[in-house]
Amino acid sequence: MDSTKLKRLRLFGIRLGSTLSKTLFLIVTVLFIRTLFLPDSFRFGSRNLHEFDSLNSNSGNPKTRFLEVPQIVWGLNNQKIAFARACLTARLLNRTLLMPSLSASLFYKEIDQLQPISFHKVFQFEKFNSLCKNFIQLGRYSDIHNHSDIVTIQKGSGRRWTSERDLDQLNTLKNHKSETIRLAGKNPFLWHDHWPVTDYANVFECLVLVDEISKEADKVVAKITEFGSKYNNPVPYVAVHMRIEKDWMIHCKKREQRSNISDICSNKNEITTRVTNIPGLKTPTILYLAVADALLENGSILNGWGPGLHPVEKKKLGVVDIYKKHPYLIQSAIDYEVCLRSDVFVGNSYSTFSSLVVLERSQKMLKMGVERGCGMDVRWPSFAYNLEGEFGGPRPWMTEFSDLSLQAISYGSNNISCGERKLG
Ligand SMILES: *[C@@H]1O[C@H](CO)[C@@H](O)[C@H](O)[C@H]1NC(C)=O
Ligand SMILES: *[C@@H]1O[C@H](CO)[C@@H](O)[C@H](O)[C@H]1NC(C)=O
Ligand SMILES: *[C@@H]1O[C@H](CO)[C@@H](O)[C@H](O)[C@H]1NC(C)=O
Ligand SMILES: *[C@@H]1O[C@H](CO)[C@@H](O)[C@H](O)[C@H]1NC(C)=O
Ligand SMILES: *[C@@H]1O[C@H](CO)[C@@H](O)[C@H](O)[C@H]1NC(C)=O
Repeated sequence: MDSTKLKRLRLFGIRLGSTLSKTLFLIVTVLFIRTLFLPDSFRFGSRNLHEFDSLNSNSGNPKTRFLEVPQIVWGLNNQKIAFARACLTARLLNRTLLMPSLSASLFYKEIDQLQPISFHKVFQFEKFNSLCKNFIQLGRYSDIHNHSDIVTIQKGSGRRWTSERDLDQLNTLKNHKSETIRLAGKNPFLWHDHWPVTDYANVFECLVLVDEISKEADKVVAKITEFGSKYNNPVPYVAVHMRIEKDWMIHCKKREQRSNISDICSNKNEITTRVTNIPGLKTPTILYLAVADALLENGSILNGWGPGLHPVEKKKLGVVDIYKKHPYLIQSAIDYEVCLRSDVFVGNSYSTFSSLVVLERSQKMLKMGVERGCGMDVRWPSFAYNLEGEFGGPRPWMTEFSDLSLQAISYGSNNISCGERKLG
């Protein structure tokens, strides 16, 4: 919501003070709000949405209290999860979350290289507040009335800081009177998780990329469509999020050893075979290979795919320059969007990026009334190539919205399916 406009309206109403002007003010406000907010969109947990009416307009309300969180870091999807966790913490405390800083670069250790980037440079701030109305609201630092009325609370850490103790601490903060609570310590991705998947889904649904970034994704999708028109019109595209770069392979091999699970890593051959075997996949189709830049140098990832599957990556599509203009975070956001919009998505069930793409696609299916659905029979199908499904294909994958924590999505799982769970 446009806070300055609302402030002006409120001042106007108070100064005139008459019943007439108050009535007018109410009418104007209602009309104003009605034009701002989209028609009813399906929301998860809508039965919970009425408790927080008082949070509707945070700016200008002297009673509004705020939560400040540390800068959000790491990969795009870790940042999205961290952001959502910060939102849900603010919601628990009945506070407005001060718009946090994200990080444009992927450096983990060198704090000075994290390149803070404000939330509203990536996601639409006002859109977020209108879509998440009655659930969680974001505030600006300029909304704070008294910058001295702030308390810094250190989040606990270490082995003895259990999830229960963490929740106890948050509960004691509920009655804290300070206008602003600043939570210090670890980045929110590492905080304890106290919320069900549907709460996170509610927050993700309110994250809409700024136009500048979504237009870049439009350009990439247009290139894919143009490439496809050589074969048929229109040709669908399958997005394959291939995690096969060296760093990932080292990371996933270590994880396989540690957890004694053998199906975390997939090499290129396994991915090509499983994708080629997707039951019911219509050809011709374009395969958009979402891979790390390092792999673009080696054209071999374009080889080995089945008949009628036409692979492209950024280089072959001629879109490298679109990405190169942007820092890491934005590049990742563009690729995410291209995967999200694909006709079929195939990813790794141990990748946060893949897991969040599948979550959003599953949400789209739910909105269309599809509660469970598998494979090529549904709109927005997704698969995990690291797990074997029928006929040597990848395993169909839909997010399990009944999960009581985000564990399976933030850290990966082999216990995925499309409705009926299979034993890992
Ligand atoms: C939440 O905060 C608002 C002020 O922002 C206050 O009016 C309301 O009573 C609070 N609700 C609860 C449940 O504490
Ligand atoms: C601002 O907050 C501080 C700390 O709570 C308080 O001492 C001070 O009186 C407040 N100032 C105003 C103008 O309310
Ligand atoms: C690892 O799992 C295999 C079966 O999947 C089992 O035979 C083996 O004993 C396990 N090893 C450890 C160290 O748990
Ligand atoms: C390309 O990658 C393949 C498979 O990883 C490897 O066998 C080949 O040597 C690489 N070629 C070049 C030119 O790096
Ligand atoms: C798989 O997930 C379902 C639903 O969350 C759960 O009930 C089941 O216990 C899980 N199975 C394994 C082996 O973890």
